[in-house]
Amino acid sequence: MYSKLLVPVDGSDRAAKCLTHTIELAQKLGAKVTLMHVVPSLPPYVNTSVDRLGQAQQSIIEELMRNGKEMLEDLLSSVAGKGVDVDLYTVMGQPADEILEKARAENYDLIVIGSRGLGEIKGYLMGSVSNRVSRHASCPVLIIR
Ligand SMILES: Nc1ncnc2c1ncn2[C@@H]1O[C@H](COP(=O)(O)OP(=O)(O)OP(=O)(O)O)[C@@H](O)[C@H]1O
Ligand SMILES: [Mg+2]
Repeated sequence: MYSKLLVPVDGSDRAAKCLTHTIELAQKLGAKVTLMHVVPSLPPYVNTSVDRLGQAQQSIIEELMRNGKEMLEDLLSSVAGKGVDVDLYTVMGQPADEILEKARAENYDLIVIGSRGLGEIKGYLMGSVSNRVSRHASCPVLIIR
């Protein structure tokens, strides 16, 4: 039933916990797992037609992409040897939109997401990304708190 699991992570402890849960689930279900990180797009008001800004923006993006990939590699090595097939995906964009689009386009069966993430402000049950993903996903969503 659940053979393709998508785990979006933002580098928070909560997101890392999602992976632990997902690996256990995947072992029982014989499912494949994709770990995904979205580098949030920079604000659109940055005027990239100015050369200096364009170059600065480009190097920030490259650094954030590298950082995201390393974060996924570290998570991957933390679950090595568990017998689960895990692949990695890093992309730039609006986190919720990218997660929703990947799940829909590649027919994932389940999204496992943290209730909160890096931006945790006390008092809210869900963050903006988990809120949007759980409301609009094309498949079931498991929220880890
Ligand atoms: N950039 C991202 N890439 C991949 N997954 C993400 C990203 N941001 C958030 N997530 C996923 O969504 C979960 C909830 O994070 P979310 O951003 O909604 O909450 P928050 O950071 O506490 O609040 P907010 O960002 O709204 O201030 C995370 O645990 C993670 O699973
Ligand atoms: Mg956040």
